[in-house]
Amino acid sequence: MKVPAPISDAATRSMSGLWDRRAASWDHSAMPGLGKIADEVVRRAGSVTDRDVVDLGCGSGQLALRLAATARSMVAVDLSRAMLERLEKQADDAGLTNVETILAALQTLELPAGSVDVIVSNYAFHHLRDPQKAEVLKRAARWLRPGGVVVIGDMMFSIRAGSADREIISSKVLNMARKGPAGWWRITKNAWRFVVARKECPAPIATWETMFRDAGFTVTSAERIVAEGGVVSGRLLAP
Ligand SMILES: C[S@@+](CC[C@H](N)C(=O)[O-])C[C@H]1O[C@@H](n2cnc3c(N)ncnc32)[C@H](O)[C@@H]1O
Repeated sequence: MKVPAPISDAATRSMSGLWDRRAASWDHSAMPGLGKIADEVVRRAGSVTDRDVVDLGCGSGQLALRLAATARSMVAVDLSRAMLERLEKQADDAGLTNVETILAALQTLELPAGSVDVIVSNYAFHHLRDPQKAEVLKRAARWLRPGGVVVIGDMMFSIRAGSADREIISSKVLNMARKGPAGWWRITKNAWRFVVARKECPAPIATWETMFRDAGFTVTSAERIVAEGGVVSGRLLAP
């Protein structure tokens, strides 16, 4: 595991602690919607044979391990050491020798210019505020070779809710409420997270499209996959 720089700011340290604690139980099987989005990200990344691929906010490897099976190289980046250790163990168990992990926050990650063919991410960018998302996308454009591809799956709606977004939020709240007391606790916790801590900052699909274009990408697809989540993909314009 590469550790380019210690994670120094308090907000990022607290996020890494949060995901370290969740690593052991992180599993898409409890969240079929998340699995659907991950499948879609992998599909839109296309064939990665002989390609150098990066997974941003890789978690325990839901995208990275699948893509590493055919990619030339996989660089998996996350700020949770526990997530990366799980990913490394699974890569070893699967005999994958082309996987490198980097413990870093996306906000400060640096990779060599023109060193990557495909960048993917699933459900990590909503932990960044919109200007941070836009800034990472601009750096991602520098890391890619000409014609390179970026595919982002994430929670995609506005918390400054318009009517479509209000529907998504109410359906999330309703689903949680149906789970009884455990669900009511999640509602309270999530409301606190949304309103006070703002640890989750989803951006609507239209904002993603604008950020892609501003970073120098042609948007090749932008689609809602499940109520709360979508996938946006782009290709780097020739310089
Ligand atoms: C919801 S999980 C998704 C993990 C994985 N991509 C998946 O599809 O299951 C979010 C991941 O993003 C990571 N993360 C959150 N904020 C991050 C940041 N600022 N920089 C790097 N990783 C971050 C967390 O540690 C966690 O592993």
